[in-house]
Amino acid sequence: MTGQGSVHSSTGGQGYDLVVVANRLPVDFSVDDDGAVDWQRSPGGLVSALEPVMQENEGAWVGWSGAPDLAHEPFEADGMMLVPVTLSASEIRKYYEGFSNDTLWPLYHDVIAPPAYHRQWWDAYRRVNQRFAEAAAAQAAPGAVVWVHDYQLQLVPKMLRELRPDLRIGFFDHIPFPPVELFQQLPWRRNILEGLLGADLIGFQRGGDASNFVRAVRRLTDHPTRGSVVSMEDADGNPGRRVRAAAFPISIDTQRFDDLARSPEVQARAKEIRADLGDPDVVMLGVDRLDYTKGIRHRIKAYGEILQDGRIDAAHTTLVQVASPSRENVGAYQELREHVEILVGRLNGEFGEIGHSAIHYLHHSYPPEEMAALYLAADVMLVTSLRDGMNLVAKEYIAARSDLDGVLVLSEFTGAADELAPGPLLVNPHDIDGMKDTIVAAAHLDPKEKRRRMRRLRRKVMGDDVAKWSKSFLGVLTAMPSRDTHV
Ligand code: F6P
Repeated sequence: MTGQGSVHSSTGGQGYDLVVVANRLPVDFSVDDDGAVDWQRSPGGLVSALEPVMQENEGAWVGWSGAPDLAHEPFEADGMMLVPVTLSASEIRKYYEGFSNDTLWPLYHDVIAPPAYHRQWWDAYRRVNQRFAEAAAAQAAPGAVVWVHDYQLQLVPKMLRELRPDLRIGFFDHIPFPPVELFQQLPWRRNILEGLLGADLIGFQRGGDASNFVRAVRRLTDHPTRGSVVSMEDADGNPGRRVRAAAFPISIDTQRFDDLARSPEVQARAKEIRADLGDPDVVMLGVDRLDYTKGIRHRIKAYGEILQDGRIDAAHTTLVQVASPSRENVGAYQELREHVEILVGRLNGEFGEIGHSAIHYLHHSYPPEEMAALYLAADVMLVTSLRDGMNLVAKEYIAARSDLDGVLVLSEFTGAADELAPGPLLVNPHDIDGMKDTIVAAAHLDPKEKRRRMRRLRRKVMGDDVAKWSKSFLGVLTAMPSRDTHV
């Protein structure tokens, strides 16, 4: 990376040598009654994944403020220049809630919910992607590295290349890339592929996602492919730029969770949580955004049947389910919330007693300190996603368990399962009977076996933190032959 780390004025200067482009800025804005704008740190996997890289590189981050119609000058926060992109209320509805989260999200997650295809949403998606591309082009120094993130911004690489052919452009897809048999439902499938192919390097969570992408390129475009490399021919059919698709499984700031969980305050809080739960023999934990991809209903159903069957003692077992609010204006999320809350109410009605609930359902987000305490308090961690790009909660749990206690039950349909097997107890969340057997086995796992598995998991996770992930992506991106090199 040229001149990495030098920061210049965002207006009129040379620009930044590293620019991250993501749907959200790593802060949330709020406007009070007097119109005064304030901001706080915002939670989320991508934020915790990228923050250390940005601070190290003193880069610029282009993203949406999270509020409608908010225009704000670029500003510095925690060692990063933050560059807000304004979205109107109608764009939030069509680009964010609509095309991103009611078209692409379900399509890319195995159509667990039916994707909706609306031309107006697509128009807004294109318009907003163009705005992000222009904002990034305005911040990038000559020859800078620009790293574009996720499914909300798949058209940005091509748009940005048209504006700034001098840039080195990387794209990382945080969610699964679907098999072409599903992807081809998308009326704008070719535009999306061409948009992504504007990048030099396209990163995915799993090898399977990268090959799904290359298969889609082969099937739906005329660009020649060889292994994981796509050749972009020029208008006269001459060979030109090469685009590489590859897996870069994301991780977390492992040391932070390890340190937090070792701190006396967090350990005391973990004990307090168990005491507040009535000191049950077994504490199970689920931590998810309230999203239909996470398999929360399947998990609660399996847990309820286990209690019903008497295979674990309802009086001495508790499931804590943290379900953080997410995308609350999207119909499928509203329906999910209703279903989950009905299930929780039913189970607590049936198996709860005064002073003891079968499920503690918490519709909130918590700071990392509280999360680390919850992880420490949990004997069994349940990650039962129906489809999940990676699942960072699984890695956080492992990083928090330096005591080697605790069992991870992990869905086969997560990117994490590809990386972590055979340490976790793997489940197919569609197979309720199979999942019940595994949850019961997890609750009774022999302590020696528990430690053996957790030791293996920690060996994998502690060495592969998010700093290594970003270094490895940026390392490959910057080492690629220049765009003029012919195939
Ligand atoms: O996993 C994809 C992702 O967009 C993450 O980057 C983000 O943390 C999470 O989903 C929450 O999404 P949203 O920005 O829609 O709240």
